[in-house]
Amino acid sequence: MGEDIPPDPSDERQAQDAPHRPVLAEETVAMVDPQPGQTVVDGTFGAGGHAALVAERLGPEGLLVVVDRDPVALEIAERFQATAPCRVRVVAAPFADAFEQLAAEGFRADGAYFDLGMSSMQIDQAERGFAYTRDAPLDMRMGLGDGGSELTSAAEVVATWDAETLQRTIGELGEERYAGRIARAIVREREREPIETTGRLVDVITRAVPTPARYAAGHPAKRTFQALRIAVNDELGQIDRALPAAWDVIDDGGRLAAISFHSLEDRRVKRYFASLTRGCVCPPDLPVCVCGRTPEAETIGRKTSVAPTPEEQESNPRSRSARLRGVRRIGRSR
Ligand SMILES: C[S@@+](CC[C@H](N)C(=O)[O-])C[C@H]1O[C@@H](n2cnc3c(N)ncnc32)[C@H](O)[C@@H]1O
Repeated sequence: MGEDIPPDPSDERQAQDAPHRPVLAEETVAMVDPQPGQTVVDGTFGAGGHAALVAERLGPEGLLVVVDRDPVALEIAERFQATAPCRVRVVAAPFADAFEQLAAEGFRADGAYFDLGMSSMQIDQAERGFAYTRDAPLDMRMGLGDGGSELTSAAEVVATWDAETLQRTIGELGEERYAGRIARAIVREREREPIETTGRLVDVITRAVPTPARYAAGHPAKRTFQALRIAVNDELGQIDRALPAAWDVIDDGGRLAAISFHSLEDRRVKRYFASLTRGCVCPPDLPVCVCGRTPEAETIGRKTSVAPTPEEQESNPRSRSARLRGVRRIGRSR
């Protein structure tokens, strides 16, 4: 996963006037294909880059539901609601909870999309503790006290999880080859003095990685920070719950799209979309189909995933690992 987003503000050449540059923006709008008067859900509002483009297409009769768990994103969403060219409903919740709630309400949509992971705004706010290049309290919670999930800060994780759990988390969610050494160093060092800041954690990690390997694959803390961020926010659990809940609200002909930034996310999106586009699942040696299963969706576009153009990758390095996938509902199975 060396391709993961570099959660390092110094790696990023962001436009000065934009808190977050939307990735694969035109491609996402083309995939969701919003039409005037339709209803669409943006599961990850952020700074509203994708939402602004979709809102233009929906027009005054259209409805855009925007979801985020981050208080700063939600402030922007409220301002967006006041000025958007379509009707806007703001939902402050983790996206899995939001879609489950919408489904329970009997809400129907023509499209929904996710732009997964964190925003540049979150990295840039040093006090949130996402960046390993800035010393700050070790927090990493995207949602601060959101009702749907009681998140534990990264400081609590490194203070309380045992070495085995830390090793498994750093190894699996960060794909860090020195996970065992880092986990043992955390447990040893926290007994000496609590690890409560990003700076101290970076120091502990850096010293745990053998000197020749320290900067061989980017910053030595990059993979551990990614693992802690994913764990703290239950990012993979959220995706696993949100995709079927979002699919549940999509009407016939409606579209679901997702942009992922690393293989752990993309694998989930790919697997779920494949389950929707798959027809018969009978063993190949059966002469006739007995499962009766027909595809619920078809892939949008000629390729199963879309990557940013070389120009976008050059102008926005954060986009490099992005992959966009989308499906269209072709029939309801219920
Ligand atoms: C990559 S940014 C989205 C950027 C946005 N598309 C734009 O153009 O500005 C991801 C956003 O999703 C939010 N987010 C991530 N996981 C979430 C979850 N499980 N529930 C709700 N919001 C989430 C983050 O707080 C962040 O604001």
